[in-house]
Amino acid sequence: MDAILGISAFYHDSAAALVIDGEIVSAAHEERFTRKKHDASFPAQAIVYCLEEAGLALQDIKAVIFYDKPLLKFERLLETYYAFAPRGLRQFLSSMPVWIREKLFLRKLIQDELKTIANNTFKLSDSSKIVNNIKLLFTEHHLSHAASAFFPSPFDEAAILTIDGVGEWATASICRGKGNQITILRELDFPHSVGLLYSAFTYYLGFKVNSGEYKMMGLAPYGRPESETTLRYEKLIKENLVQIYEDGSVWLNQEYFDYAVGLKMIKERKWEELFTLPRREPETELSQEYCDFALAAQRVTEEIVFKLARTARQVTGSKYLCLAGGVALNCVANGKLLRSGIFEDIWIQPAAGDAGGALGAALAGWHIWLNKERKSAQKDKMQGAYLGPEFDNKEIKKVMRKYGAVGHEYEDFEQLCRDVASLLDKGMVVGWFQGRMEWGPRALGNRSILGDARNTEMQKKLNLKIKFRENFRPFAPSVLAEKVDEYFEMKHESPYMLLVCNVKKELRRTLPEGYDNYTWRDKLYYVRSELPAITHIDFSARVQTVHKETNERYWQLIKAFEEQTGWGVIVNTSFNVRGEPIVCTPEDAYRCFMRTEMDYLVMGDVLFKKEEQPQWEEEKDWREEYELD
Ligand SMILES: [Fe+2]
Repeated sequence: MDAILGISAFYHDSAAALVIDGEIVSAAHEERFTRKKHDASFPAQAIVYCLEEAGLALQDIKAVIFYDKPLLKFERLLETYYAFAPRGLRQFLSSMPVWIREKLFLRKLIQDELKTIANNTFKLSDSSKIVNNIKLLFTEHHLSHAASAFFPSPFDEAAILTIDGVGEWATASICRGKGNQITILRELDFPHSVGLLYSAFTYYLGFKVNSGEYKMMGLAPYGRPESETTLRYEKLIKENLVQIYEDGSVWLNQEYFDYAVGLKMIKERKWEELFTLPRREPETELSQEYCDFALAAQRVTEEIVFKLARTARQVTGSKYLCLAGGVALNCVANGKLLRSGIFEDIWIQPAAGDAGGALGAALAGWHIWLNKERKSAQKDKMQGAYLGPEFDNKEIKKVMRKYGAVGHEYEDFEQLCRDVASLLDKGMVVGWFQGRMEWGPRALGNRSILGDARNTEMQKKLNLKIKFRENFRPFAPSVLAEKVDEYFEMKHESPYMLLVCNVKKELRRTLPEGYDNYTWRDKLYYVRSELPAITHIDFSARVQTVHKETNERYWQLIKAFEEQTGWGVIVNTSFNVRGEPIVCTPEDAYRCFMRTEMDYLVMGDVLFKKEEQPQWEEEKDWREEYELD
């Protein structure tokens, strides 16, 4: 048996993934255990979980592979400093001590952390010897992304496109995957980066870098496609901030950016002069101009992604595309890419961001380092991305005893599904906690909050009373995989909620005259379709197809809803409040249930009704626990 542990850490979104003899056995994000969103610390708890899931201890591991190369990254910092000296001094001084103390001595740091795990968790007396015996390797950042995209994909050979902020030097790469090998063909280098450009836009709109990118994507459709403002912003971006070449490579005008030499993303004053629009203060009103700006930014990003994809097709000659890197989480661009026909089929790693690098590193270890054959497969190897911890009814009952919670245990799961379906039909919001936790940033029906997509009040209720987040944020549908084309203009499967497509024309409502000139607020709650809670402002939806083979329980619930209502589709949003990582344990779930206006909770076979629960009291305001994202 060969067990390989992949780790990503110290930048953002730490995670661990375990691959045994080529099979993905377990994978999890550290934030779910520590309850700190985007936690970048050493993924100690995720590692322990991954090993325990497999019934292994630390000494059973053949190799630990870290998802990027610290020395290369150090070299980039150093060279950037020289290239931009003396302006670079500030950035250099502030990052240098961290590198000297931590990153440059990464090998020792990782080994020390592993020894702590060996001592504390596995109670090994000879921890030093055991850890020193484990091979510690470092893959390159973009190779980790590429491996996470290609190796679990259903393709024998494919073009691979990775696009993110920055790894060591590379900010985007085009590779070819074939069998068990990955060849890097093209690379775009720092400081020219599509991910950093997208983050710069995010920052300008007053959202948080490395977490608010989704919000900008959600805001873009509120922009007016033909308006003079949108077109002007788009033109200004392309004429001043970024030069886009035919092959998709970009050149970012550093006069406008600060990330390479300073501590901020952009030179605010220069942007404000250029766009005659002040940077939006976080949490303030959103005016139409910011929506238009988001749309212009999204369009520019899509143009670059499309050009990169065409180049990938050209240089690899492949009909298939695999995607990873933070920009691959842009499901609007992904949906358009799929429909463009540049490739016959595309597959995207569900943990496309840096957490996914842990899985890529482990798979690269198996296929490239150990040179193990990669078998052909009809389906991808992600097992629905249900790779995290699960908790049985016994664990759930422990939590019930702890909080005096009142629950009804069902013997018959089908009956439970029927009851929950009728609650959803009545407009109730239900927390749904089942089986193994999801890998990647999306909840896919095991740590989800559910509602009726037909309900005209659902978007408002979920955003404001349950998630406590911005009202413009859209929700996504979960649909029975075999029925997807009854509701959406898509035949493709989308198990990881990474593709956006349109709601079918038959389900759309006619818009009133002059709708285009409505303000974004008037558009927000306008009922545009028979499924208003998941139909975005431009009639699009970010679809999750639910498959009986990978998530039978969730599929059964939606099936029961279909039998009662005739609609095989519901709203699915992640089980958390704003700023909180998705819940992991039954205790996290119960706490989140009690803190919000969620009406019901199902954990395993137990149904909890809010009204029957004992009074929930906390000494401190729990909202202070989570930093706003
Ligand atoms: Fe990355």
